[in-house]
Amino acid sequence: MNTKYKRILVLTGAGVSAESGLATFRDADGLWNNHKVEDVATIEAFERNPEFVHQFYNEMKPELLKARPNPAHLALAKLEQEYSGEVNIITQNVDTLHEKAGSRKVYHIHGQINQAVCLNCGQILETWDDVDTQTVCPHCGVSGMMKPNIVFFGEALLCMDKVQKLLAECDLFVSVGTSGVVYPAAGFVQTAKYYGAETYEFNLEAASNNYLFDKHVYGKCGETLPVFVNELLAETKESE
Ligand code: OAD
Repeated sequence: MNTKYKRILVLTGAGVSAESGLATFRDADGLWNNHKVEDVATIEAFERNPEFVHQFYNEMKPELLKARPNPAHLALAKLEQEYSGEVNIITQNVDTLHEKAGSRKVYHIHGQINQAVCLNCGQILETWDDVDTQTVCPHCGVSGMMKPNIVFFGEALLCMDKVQKLLAECDLFVSVGTSGVVYPAAGFVQTAKYYGAETYEFNLEAASNNYLFDKHVYGKCGETLPVFVNELLAETKESE
């Protein structure tokens, strides 16, 4: 295998879906400028008012179901399909645009909008339909125990065993469209770097943790990422 990198790991945030028309969290029109985190995205909020929190995520579903992948998602899917090394994506996004674009190795550390988790039996219910405080778990039959499978502030991230392994093994770590303020994801670059990976940042502007990256590509990732992916694929073909 003549690839420049053997294992590429991509971390994506809300910016990768911005050109699909989905709001980010912290930009001017971002979700957290119109809603209070402590009302809809903490475990305490869910315990206090589960009806309201369910409604908030139910209302997001139609837009996320309708959204189409943009050139950034498509470029990452092409990389996974055509690159002779390994390509994995860790996403902080709860949308499913990477999967719609064709990516297969995607790890949703902050959960998925089209899933609910039963707090009684721990099983996942996959659905784009509304979930509420009456929903019956299809696995254990108990009602009123479903929680949106969204990782709230105060909860542990999902898939972390796999993520730690990917961070330790990758030789290129690429961060796309994330502000670098929410930990632990904002610290992944440090771990990858510690284990020897080269680190690239793709963002509109410098993220909070930008000093940890070796290379920076600023601009819309729907424009910059396809160029990067094509260059990487061309370099690999030339060296074969
Ligand atoms: P943010 O809204 O914090 O940051 C989005 C980043 O994307 C910003 O740095 C923008 O500059 C950049 N951006 C916007 N449009 C872009 C484009 N077209 N091309 C490239 N970059 C662009 O979103 P996240 O970093 O994903 O957690 O937020 C992290 C977490 O905070 C989210 O997963 C969410 C939130 O609380 C949970 O809900 C658990």
